[in-house]
Amino acid sequence: MHGMTPMQNHNQTTSHKITVPLIKNAFIEEDETKRALADFIVHAKKLSMGEQCRAFEEAFAKKQSCKEAILFNSGGSANLAMFQALKNMGELKDGDTVGFSALTWSTNSMPIIQMGLKPVAIDCDADTLNVMSHNLEERHKQVKLKAFFATNVIGFAGDLQAIREFCRKNDILFLEDNCESLGTKLPEGKTGNFGLGASFSFYVAHHMSTIEGGMVCTDDEAFAEMLRIVRANGWDRNLHPHQQTKWRTTPAGIESEFYSKFLFHDLGFNLRPTEITGFLGLYQLQFLDRNIKMREQTFLRCEAIMQNNADLVPVRRDHLAMVSSFVIPVIAKTSELRDRYLQKFHNAGVEVRPMIAGNIQKQPFHKKYVVETYPLPNTDFLHTSSFYCGNCPDYTEEEIQTIMSCLSKN
Ligand SMILES: Cc1ncc(COP(=O)(O)O)c(C=O)c1O
Repeated sequence: MHGMTPMQNHNQTTSHKITVPLIKNAFIEEDETKRALADFIVHAKKLSMGEQCRAFEEAFAKKQSCKEAILFNSGGSANLAMFQALKNMGELKDGDTVGFSALTWSTNSMPIIQMGLKPVAIDCDADTLNVMSHNLEERHKQVKLKAFFATNVIGFAGDLQAIREFCRKNDILFLEDNCESLGTKLPEGKTGNFGLGASFSFYVAHHMSTIEGGMVCTDDEAFAEMLRIVRANGWDRNLHPHQQTKWRTTPAGIESEFYSKFLFHDLGFNLRPTEITGFLGLYQLQFLDRNIKMREQTFLRCEAIMQNNADLVPVRRDHLAMVSSFVIPVIAKTSELRDRYLQKFHNAGVEVRPMIAGNIQKQPFHKKYVVETYPLPNTDFLHTSSFYCGNCPDYTEEEIQTIMSCLSKN
């Protein structure tokens, strides 16, 4: 059509057959897992949150090398719970400024707004996709931050050790959203272990799936305790007995054993998982390393091609010890080139998405609720010059070859 850019053309031709989908299966070992799940459901005595959830929490905490893991019904719920818990604890108060990665997902900045806090968008570096310590320092010079919520973007991360140090020195509460980067490592340790707490998502297509599900990991016992209270409408029923005793003997505590059954200590929601989540988590955990390895192999093959393509910018990762690839990022040098590659992927039937939610300040909900906006040149660049395709662990060699051919220069 006259005057149509490749991007407009791309929008017009959405009926192409998908040959390489973003998501292939809900689980690794899909058939085996579904059969095991069916058997579990038939024989389980209880399906609401119980032993399976607790066992998955313990196994996941061990795997992540943290003290406490608290299971939620989604990664978004995990984020919301972290902020409610910090408000309940008095660590954050109405109107406090919370910095967050501008290149992120809705559920990273929404809870900041929902909790009556003030979101302050922080630019990333275009070549790492992540907020680096110097981006944080610059923003902190303009706006004194009370907290910083970093998103570890699609398997990559910022210089989290330097960020942690900066936050410690400046009394900034540091949280991580590790929903997209389970398994990524820096020389100083695993992503998700740098802040006071970190969220994880087990939604389908993440490094492991429980269909829907999320986790918060922390080494802080008081934070973990409050997260368990927040998760279950504010009551203490799911705490350890010694913690329950403490809550029940506070001045605001119980009048009698009878009333202790329905005692609500602080603000919360119902964000509980079910035993199905717990069962699936335990089952899929046995395949997690394999899942990460397969994604890494595909990512490294694709990265090698991007390194030889002058149209594209490979993601810089020299500060990382290991990338637990989530999807395959494509960063073009210009938006025109991005549109050309989008068309190429589209023609080959490879399903693509924008670089997560792009510059979150451009999202309708942000425009509606957040008055103060900040300049974000690098996030803006990524908004218009990048996209991603999937990196399923179960892609066939043919599917991987299709992606690789789209990444090569014509
Ligand atoms: C960075 C990030 N945070 C949070 C979430 C929310 O996770 P969930 O879909 O489990 O609510 C996602 C979802 O993919 C995400 O990418």
